[in-house]
Amino acid sequence: MSLYLDHLATLQRQAEAALAATGFDAMLVAAGIEKFAFLDDRPYLFQPNPHFKHWLPLTQHPHCWLAVRPGLKPRVVYYQPHDYWHVPPSEPRGEWVDAVELVVIREPEQAAKALADLVTPRTAILGEADAALPGLTPNNPEALLNRLHWARGVKSPYELEQMRAAQRRAVPGHLAAQAAFLRGESEAGIHRAYLLATGHTDRDLPYTNIIGLNEHAAVLHYQYQDEQAPAESRSFLIDAGAQVNGYASDITRTWVAAGHDEFAALVAAMEREQLALVDEVREGVDYRDIHLSTHRRVARVLREAGLVNMGEEAMVAEGVTKPFFPHGIGHLLGLQVHDVGGFMASETGGVTTKPEGHRYLRLTRLLQPGMVVTIEPGLYFIPMLLDELRASPNAAPVDWAAVERLSRYGGIRIEDDVACRAGGEAPENLTRDAFAAVA
Ligand code: GLY
Ligand code: MN
Ligand code: MN
Repeated sequence: MSLYLDHLATLQRQAEAALAATGFDAMLVAAGIEKFAFLDDRPYLFQPNPHFKHWLPLTQHPHCWLAVRPGLKPRVVYYQPHDYWHVPPSEPRGEWVDAVELVVIREPEQAAKALADLVTPRTAILGEADAALPGLTPNNPEALLNRLHWARGVKSPYELEQMRAAQRRAVPGHLAAQAAFLRGESEAGIHRAYLLATGHTDRDLPYTNIIGLNEHAAVLHYQYQDEQAPAESRSFLIDAGAQVNGYASDITRTWVAAGHDEFAALVAAMEREQLALVDEVREGVDYRDIHLSTHRRVARVLREAGLVNMGEEAMVAEGVTKPFFPHGIGHLLGLQVHDVGGFMASETGGVTTKPEGHRYLRLTRLLQPGMVVTIEPGLYFIPMLLDELRASPNAAPVDWAAVERLSRYGGIRIEDDVACRAGGEAPENLTRDAFAAVA
C-alpha cells in the first residue's frame, strides 16, 4: 500500500473511533471559503481548514467539502467552477481520487445538496462559521475536535515524508539567502533570493518570512523587509519555511559576516547548545523539561561569554536568562506551523499547564514517537527587555559594555524541525538531514 493510502486508512480508523466515542454518525469538513477585503473584490490568501488538508493534498480549493462515515469511502465534494476570470481547480487527479467517492460541483451552494443525505442531528460539521450553507452549519463539537487534535500530534509515515520534502524545499532558499546576505543585499533582496531558490512565491510560504539584518534580528517576529541595504551587514537572522502538500517546515539560521568574532563565538556556543537540546527529543520526555533545560544552557552561554557574571543556577532562578531568551523552546509542527494540541492533557481534552512564569511556551506534552517539534533556542539583545533588567536588582552582574557591543547584532535563533523516535532512540533531525543532503 502507498504511504498516502496507508495515511488515509489511519485517518479513517481514527475518525471512526472518535465519532463512536463522541456520539456522532458522520463528520463533514468544510475546506473553507475565499474571503475578500472590506468593500473590495480582492481576495485574501486562502487558508484551508487544516482538517480538510489532513485528508487531501488540496490546499487551493475553497468551497470543497469532505465527508467521513464509518465503513465507507470518504466523499469529496469538489468545487470546480466554470470561471474564465481565474484558473479553476484542475481536473481531480492524484492518488486520492480513486480512494474517495467524488462529486464535482460548479456552484458553492451545490455542496448542500451533495451532502444532504448525511446530515442528521448526529452529524459533526467542522469548519469556520462563514462556510455555512443551508442545512450545513458548522458545529465543531469540542469532544470530537479534541480527539482529532490529539491524534494530529503524531505524524503518519506519509506525513513525515511530506515534512521531509518541505525541508528539502526550504534548504536551497536558506543557502541562497545566506549568500545574498554575504553579498550585502537588502532584506527585501534576500527575501527574493529565498523565494527564487525555493520556487515559492509569498502565497506559498507557510508563514511570513522573518528576514532581519543587524538589530532587526532582535525582533522575534520581525515583519518587514527593508528595500534599502544597511551600510554594513553584520548579522542575519532568517526564519523561513516551505510547504509541500500542506505540510510546513519552520527553519531558523543566524549568519555572521566575516570579522565579527565576538558575535560569531556566541552563535557557535548557541549552536552547540541547540544540538544538545535536539538530542533531548526522546520518547517519554516532558517537552517542558527541554524548555527548562534551555534556560540552563542559555545561562551557561551567558556566563562563558562573560555577559553575566553569576552562577548558572542562580541566573535561572533569578530569571536573568528570560530577557535574553523570552520565548518558548518550540512547538508542534505539521499542517500548521504552530500545530494544534500542544497543551492537551489527553485525547478527551484538559490542559497540561506551562511551567510557572513561562507564558510563551506552546507545547507541554510528553513526547511520543512520530511527533515533530521544533527546537529553537535563542539569545537576543532586545532593548525593551534589557532596560527592565538594567533597572532590576540583577543588573550588577551583567557586563553592560558587552551587551551594548553585541546589541548591534540583534540576536541569535537556531531552529531545527525534529521527529521523535521510539524507544529512546536518538531523534531524526529533519532540518540538518536536508542541509546535509544538499551539501
Ligand atoms: N516561525 C515562527 C516560529 O518559529 O515559531
Ligand atoms: Mn520559525
Ligand atoms: Mn518555530
